[in-house]
Amino acid sequence: MRSVGYSLLTWATLTAILNSSSATVRYQPEQVHLSFGEKERSIVITWSTGNKTDSIVKYGGGGQLLQTKTGSCSLFVDGGKKKASQYIHRVTLYYEDPDSLQPETKYYYHVGSELGWSAIYWFLTPPENLNGWAPSIAIYGDMGNINAQSLPRLQAETQAGIYDAIIHVGDFAYNMDDYDGEVGDEFMRQIETIAAYVPYMTTVGNHESAYNFSHYRARFSMPGPYENMMYSFNMGPIHFISFSTEYYYYLRYGFKMLVKQYEWLENDLKEANDPANRTARPWIITLGHRPMYCSNRDDDDCTRIKNRLRYGITPLRLFALEDLFYKYSVDLEIWAHEHSYERMWPLYNYKVYNGSYDQPYTNPKAPVHIVVGSAGCQEKVDSFNPLPSWSGFRSSDYGYSRIKVHNATHLNLQQVSDDLDGQVIDEWWLIKEMPRIKFPLADELFSSQSNSPSPQKVGNIEQNHLRDSFEVEK
Ligand SMILES: [Fe+2]
Repeated sequence: MRSVGYSLLTWATLTAILNSSSATVRYQPEQVHLSFGEKERSIVITWSTGNKTDSIVKYGGGGQLLQTKTGSCSLFVDGGKKKASQYIHRVTLYYEDPDSLQPETKYYYHVGSELGWSAIYWFLTPPENLNGWAPSIAIYGDMGNINAQSLPRLQAETQAGIYDAIIHVGDFAYNMDDYDGEVGDEFMRQIETIAAYVPYMTTVGNHESAYNFSHYRARFSMPGPYENMMYSFNMGPIHFISFSTEYYYYLRYGFKMLVKQYEWLENDLKEANDPANRTARPWIITLGHRPMYCSNRDDDDCTRIKNRLRYGITPLRLFALEDLFYKYSVDLEIWAHEHSYERMWPLYNYKVYNGSYDQPYTNPKAPVHIVVGSAGCQEKVDSFNPLPSWSGFRSSDYGYSRIKVHNATHLNLQQVSDDLDGQVIDEWWLIKEMPRIKFPLADELFSSQSNSPSPQKVGNIEQNHLRDSFEVEK
């Protein structure tokens, strides 16, 4: 009988074996996903194991995994009766490290420890000149474990290499805490097929609220000190800001983080508008789960004028975000929560500020809002009220959006319909000529038009005619 070569095993490995008193062991890594790290260009690789193991990534260009980086893991315990636990591992790859990541290179990697390795995945690093990068991004919200209609197409497109990142704007799994966290585990395994290949950036939604958002805070690895609830990151000419709309609605968890977030948002926006920063990254895009505006046939807050995010928390209008985002010239506000797609005209305080009659999104005079919450979940899709004049286009097809930022002046958006086998049902350009035009004061812009044309309706798609700036009914 041959003796086991213990000398090959690390002390941590031996400890892990000796400590495993249960009948089964869970050393195999799973739920692998990527995200952008603290420093621009850095990549965080996150995964889970049932038992504690080392946290190792082996990676390299050209298909050979010759480089090694170690990280750490933390114990996560679900809040349910079973107190199901898992270890969540994180390893960060930097560009500054000697012999580390190089620009514009395809890296192969696997994760795990001497007790088990994942399959091999790959990712592409951005070019050396980040300001000249023209990234492509898939973006959506409200994708569940059940009825994830958009996922197969996203898997095929991501593995074909057409995206540089994926952004999920809240509501995951439905719900990550269900069945003692088993639904969350299965969801994370399900999205590994996209999230192990490109950074998968997240925003918190209401479906993550259990145990004070503990699953969301523990499972993801977004930059910044606020456990994924608020953070910003840059991709080429874009500055993305992700924040929690849920602080406005789950007040039972306290006001403290709501106050903190508002201060953080203003500071981040100020810094992003520093002339050197705004020149390098002229596009500011916010990511929040619950919209300020929507025209769905439900009783959600976005159907109300005194929406908490837009108007602030009454009666003192505390922490109102519409003024803040207008003041700092946010270009695009992306929301989800409503299980549909909706593109508004440039909007501020329920008034439309199109750039011009023919080109509403060229030099718009207010932020543009879109809702992209139709990726697919067990709650199906949401229907609409009659098309309001401030809404440009909407569809209740399942699907997701694509953003391609071509340069400092041209940003292209597409809405993909899963119902129509991947057909692009809405494509538009957000254009702003340089130097950047700051949004003027609302009353300076005010210009009303009373002859509202009637909307067109074809199938599940409704569309308003193009118009100049106008006042709309509230
Ligand atoms: Fe939601």
